[in-house]
Amino acid sequence: MPDDNNNTGCLVVIFGASGDLTKRKLVPALYHLWDNGMLPSNIAIMGVSRTKYSDDDWREELHGFSPGSYDADKWADFKERIHYQASDATKADAWGDIKDRMCALDKQHALGGNVLFYLSVSPQFFEPIINNIGTAEVVVEGRKYCSIDGTKSWQRIVVEKPFGSDPGSAAKLNRTLAGVFDEDAIYRIDHYLGKELVQNMLVLRFANAIFEPLWNQRYVDHIQITASETVDVGTRGSYYDSPSGGAMRDMVQSHLLQVLSVVAMEPPVSMDAADIRTEKIKVFKALRVPKADEVSKIAVRGQYGPGAVNGDPVVGYRDTEGVDPHSQTDTFAAMQFSVDTWRWGGVPFYLRSGKAMGAKKTEIVVYFKPTPHCLFRDKARNAKPNQIVINVQPDEGIRMRFEGKVPGSGLKMKEVVMDFDYVEQWQTEPPDGYATLLHDAIKGDQTLFKHRDEIQSAWDAVQPVLDYWAGNPQDDLPNYSAGTWGPPAADLMMQREGRYWRNG
Ligand code: BG6
Repeated sequence: MPDDNNNTGCLVVIFGASGDLTKRKLVPALYHLWDNGMLPSNIAIMGVSRTKYSDDDWREELHGFSPGSYDADKWADFKERIHYQASDATKADAWGDIKDRMCALDKQHALGGNVLFYLSVSPQFFEPIINNIGTAEVVVEGRKYCSIDGTKSWQRIVVEKPFGSDPGSAAKLNRTLAGVFDEDAIYRIDHYLGKELVQNMLVLRFANAIFEPLWNQRYVDHIQITASETVDVGTRGSYYDSPSGGAMRDMVQSHLLQVLSVVAMEPPVSMDAADIRTEKIKVFKALRVPKADEVSKIAVRGQYGPGAVNGDPVVGYRDTEGVDPHSQTDTFAAMQFSVDTWRWGGVPFYLRSGKAMGAKKTEIVVYFKPTPHCLFRDKARNAKPNQIVINVQPDEGIRMRFEGKVPGSGLKMKEVVMDFDYVEQWQTEPPDGYATLLHDAIKGDQTLFKHRDEIQSAWDAVQPVLDYWAGNPQDDLPNYSAGTWGPPAADLMMQREGRYWRNG
């Protein structure tokens, strides 16, 4: 496949090659990019895991996992770039073999010494592997690692989540990374930033004159960000029920705060990665860190009991394999955040996410304040607040909801919707976030990756809640049935302020 750009080729080294993410997302995303001519022609993949596979075994395993994703002829060509190294990358003595194989593949595919490492392993293996990368001296920006010939090369690393499980562990991981890679070679991935409608937020806000003037505390009443999932914990019970698990850590601290930062950031001076990240960091630094005695008012934890999602029965969380029958883990978390800036002073941001809920949706809803004076107060009902709804997934699009006149005599009002539907407009499904992000990492564009300061401040903002929850077990768990919209306490948190979640 010819490349349509000036990318330099590279070896993509995936640690955790036999894992689910590699089969489900990473290799299909690389194939999709290659098929669309978006990868350099000199590219190769080297999977590393302990499982004993040959190149062909792994290729078959990848193809067999989702045969529908690959065209037979193109796969036959693409798979020649896929290789496998059976090694335990956490062990220093495995690195002789790993490095030899990297060098051999570099030569075979003429990759110029460029490497994109991808850490798709359990978080406890991050640091040993990073340290081994350092010791093996394969990070040698500016010269090749296998044959030192003066040619410039690059080595970058993509780090999956979870990025730490509290402020201290995140800082430690950042220090380990900094010992081996420069900050501009570290790509902390958050696949929510790869979602089209999250990126579209930048265009909506900064390429249009009609929205930005309203985007502040003067006109906005509050903002809701919801990521509800219909899936339950399934086979991930032992990970999810561990000290790094739970909805607050798994979704709110990571994905949803990233979405919040894009909604709340100031206009950057340019669309360069550094300028966008500078503005995002400011939002994270402005997140109010709650005090322990505020937690019960601004945060709600939930855990699902048995129920049914879309008519299918779901076992309760505590009955899931790998889960402590007395578990206090949050499978639902809702939290009110404050962004202490001039733009957002007094505007609450309500974030929530849960497993086994009534519907799968990720949406951002901007609720506007009522008009200063209500001319229509005596009509059938009060005007509803205007809303801009950004459907991140599914039904990707942006919908403006406002009051309209019902046809006929008299002045009856009803909410009407102006609808930008992504698929209808562009006649295509949005690309997968992983494809976008892998493409950016290969190109060397850090715009959609997290800076270490964002992660630290995000942990600081949720840690008091996690500490409070850890110190105050809740005896009403499970407190929502699978297939519902979470615990009643989350509704009460809103109702106390005269607000309501947008469900359905
Ligand atoms: C992952 C979480 O990061 O995101 C999962 O670990 C969650 O628990 C998933 O299911 C949700 O991603 P998406 O793209 O399906 O909304």
